[in-house]
Amino acid sequence: MTAAAAFAGRVDDATLRQIGDHIAEVEAELRVLVGSRVALVETIGAHTLQAGGKRLRPAFVWLAAKSIGRPFDPARARRLGACMEMIHMATLIHDDVIDDAATRRGQPTASAVHGSTAAILSGDVLLSRAMSVLAEDGDLDVIRRVSRAVVDLAEGEVRELEIRGRVDLSYEEHAEILRMKTASFIECCCRVGARIAGASEAEEVALGTFGHHVGMAFQLVDDLLDYRGDHAKTGKPAATDYHEGCATLPLIALWPHLGEDERARISAGFGQADAIAYVPEIIALMEARGAFREAEQAAADAITQAKDALTVLPATSARELLAAAADFVVARQS
Ligand code: FPP
Ligand code: MG
Repeated sequence: MTAAAAFAGRVDDATLRQIGDHIAEVEAELRVLVGSRVALVETIGAHTLQAGGKRLRPAFVWLAAKSIGRPFDPARARRLGACMEMIHMATLIHDDVIDDAATRRGQPTASAVHGSTAAILSGDVLLSRAMSVLAEDGDLDVIRRVSRAVVDLAEGEVRELEIRGRVDLSYEEHAEILRMKTASFIECCCRVGARIAGASEAEEVALGTFGHHVGMAFQLVDDLLDYRGDHAKTGKPAATDYHEGCATLPLIALWPHLGEDERARISAGFGQADAIAYVPEIIALMEARGAFREAEQAAADAITQAKDALTVLPATSARELLAAAADFVVARQS
């Protein structure tokens, strides 16, 4: 399901058509941007693009711009939205190499089809192309913001690597990883949208706060779906975080509610790719001891904070769409 489809019933048909049209234009822009004179780069770009995605990041750039209520250049919103999606595509291609993931969105990953080296290098091309789009756009403030968010993304991923294998993470340590690897970039998309529409400082801060909390909720839900999602819908195998030794909130919240024996059993399989036998027991414990409930509550609280931040903005259909996008992030099944 794309971001556009999630808004049905929340706003009038004309606004719905507008966002649908905008996302279709972003999609066309992306098809041009992933083109390359090197056939393998083009193949991997097209493969990643046709695997689909919610296109949430370009939707946030556009909705944030719209929510300011002043005229802005729609071509710029489209191009910068495509740029943000291309950075996101590059990070996922790299992430699938790091995670040794065979499938994403129900389709084989670029690395599974073309090998890790080709996938890494093609991801590098997409990232570099996105940077050249930013340079052509020429707004130093946008370039500065996006570069910082990309540093956050990469450092977040390295931090996650550093803590691999640790089951005893504090919520604060974990939240900082979520901020770096996911929330910072969504915050950036919202701030970029605000900026191109000439937002005031207060409006830009409000949209940044909204994006931060939506990003936190997005990753919390992603981590919940990893354990208890319908894997036919997520298109990813179950409990990859456990097999990779990556402690996310369901496991962190479960830990204080476990006895010695349970902890020993769960630790034994943590970080083992073939420890499939432990997974049903862990999922049952997460359900029974309230760990899923705690993670759900954290995501719901983040969405409440995101929506609260929007009250600074004028009451427009774009603001309603931003709130609908926030709800979609927690309700999504894939
Ligand atoms: C998905 O997390 C991964 C990210 C949100 C960030 C990935 C970042 C990098 C690989 C480093 C930076 C790369 C570039 C090109 C700048 P996940 O593994 O928890 O989610 P998943 O379930 O979707 O795989
Ligand atoms: Mg991953």
